[in-house]
Amino acid sequence: MTTPEITLNSGTTIPQLGLGVWQATNDETERAVRYAIDEAGYRHIDTAAAYGNEEGVGRALASASVPREDVFVTTKLWNADQGYEQALQAFDASMKKLGTDYVDLYLIHWPLQNRERLLRTWDALEKIAESGRAKAVGVCNFEPHHLQLLIDRGGMLPAVDQVELHPHLPQNEIREFANEHGIVVESWSPLGGTSNSGWGPNSKPNTLLVDPIVTRIADRHSKSPAQVLIRWHLQNGLVVIPKSVHEERISQNIDVFDFELDDLDLSELATLDDGVRVGMHPDEMNMGAPD
Ligand code: A2P
Repeated sequence: MTTPEITLNSGTTIPQLGLGVWQATNDETERAVRYAIDEAGYRHIDTAAAYGNEEGVGRALASASVPREDVFVTTKLWNADQGYEQALQAFDASMKKLGTDYVDLYLIHWPLQNRERLLRTWDALEKIAESGRAKAVGVCNFEPHHLQLLIDRGGMLPAVDQVELHPHLPQNEIREFANEHGIVVESWSPLGGTSNSGWGPNSKPNTLLVDPIVTRIADRHSKSPAQVLIRWHLQNGLVVIPKSVHEERISQNIDVFDFELDDLDLSELATLDDGVRVGMHPDEMNMGAPD
């Protein structure tokens, strides 16, 4: 079965499930992306300048059997490149590494604390969107107060807000706010993060994939914990981008369209909400910021 799509406020559509590649090398990324597209049926790849693997994505796109225009590609602007001219240059550099002349989605990776610079960065993304070189533009890790800045500015609104989101951190406030403004929410660390996550001061490493509640639900459906978590995102209307560099897992993570979580499953998963992150709170994150 093909992955469902969600229409963005730009008018373009995004496949609801994609492949994440954070913490993968260029070579791992190239192999994973090619396998995901050619063998597993993915049509959505999520990378970032800061991941250092845009070239790997580009090599896989160039050699995959599917035309570029059939794959939804997202990349992100790193913090050090915030500012108007800096963002335009960083976008060009990303396109070069990806070996493409457009992306489907270009995101600001973090809001940073400097509001003036952030707004200039958004001016640049609006220009890129108007030029057609990004089919849609958006943000990551924006709290409602950051989104409000862009709403108050007038002009283009982000198509997407990609935030840390999983059953420990369901982000109800952000989802409600984004929904009211026609902004689609994407979940990063949707499986609870990688084994070396837990990088914020109040965060913890991934426990979801071995959580007894998740495991019990998985057993009931004869599915894996990862598949249960991915269904949770899909059934909540979220865009989900689980990361893996292993072929078996890449295939498993998209094999989620032949079962559904029921009310009991969803109510059990709701008890996992303890607000604990694997990453940093956006208001505390300023890594790499120019000033
Ligand atoms: P790997 O790439 O070694 O497969 P996230 O929540 O950020 O998407 O993180 C996913 C983490 O879980 C990665 O470390 C990934 O490791 C691992 N992973 C991805 N898919 C599965 C799966 N189906 N079963 C178990 N672990 C998985």
